[in-house]
Amino acid sequence: MAIRLGDIAPNFTAKTTDGVVDFYKWKGQSWAVLFSHPKDFTPVCTTELGRVAGLKAEFEKRNTKVIGLSIDPLESHMKWIGDIEDVTGNALNFPLIADDDRRVSDMYDMIHPNAHDTQTVRSVFVIGPDNKVKLTLTYPASTGRNFDELLRTIDSLQLTSTWAVATPADWREGEDVIIGTSVNDEDAQKKFPGYVAKKPYLRVIPQPGR
Ligand code: BEZ
Repeated sequence: MAIRLGDIAPNFTAKTTDGVVDFYKWKGQSWAVLFSHPKDFTPVCTTELGRVAGLKAEFEKRNTKVIGLSIDPLESHMKWIGDIEDVTGNALNFPLIADDDRRVSDMYDMIHPNAHDTQTVRSVFVIGPDNKVKLTLTYPASTGRNFDELLRTIDSLQLTSTWAVATPADWREGEDVIIGTSVNDEDAQKKFPGYVAKKPYLRVIPQPGR
């Protein structure tokens, strides 16, 4: 069954390039990104894994752990790792799940049979400290993901989980944000004095907490 926003991300134990991982134990109280790849030794996947490895410091800054998945066996992953570093200059620095029995892919509905009957699509799950799914993305095999966008969404998720605000289109860290619609004007004036109401339902403030 599909996993939806707000659902508890199911726990699993899996073989990875960093040994056997119990997802909940590995994740602890951090945020996590679980993302799937259609197949080892494929061009787009190679660039994606290298790119994410190069963003290690950015994920760490956001208290976010990253774990990849491909349905090929561990021996294949171990051989592929060398190519990822060769091509991108970044050594793999996060676990890559060897889901050759498709246990995790099935659990997270990462195989979309009308796209491909055995390979996973490019799924992304952002999971919060409470183990709930906060964001999902699904890309086809032929389209590599934009990991700057993933970092941007994590910034928004973390901000909006702390403050009663929402982030507008194309928002980036440091830009103005919107007071949540659940906050009435009286409370908004107390919490965010001096807010600007562009419309009664669109009240803008500088990003709080900076
Ligand atoms: C790729 O990573 O390049 C890829 C993987 C599976 C199908 C098509 C492309």
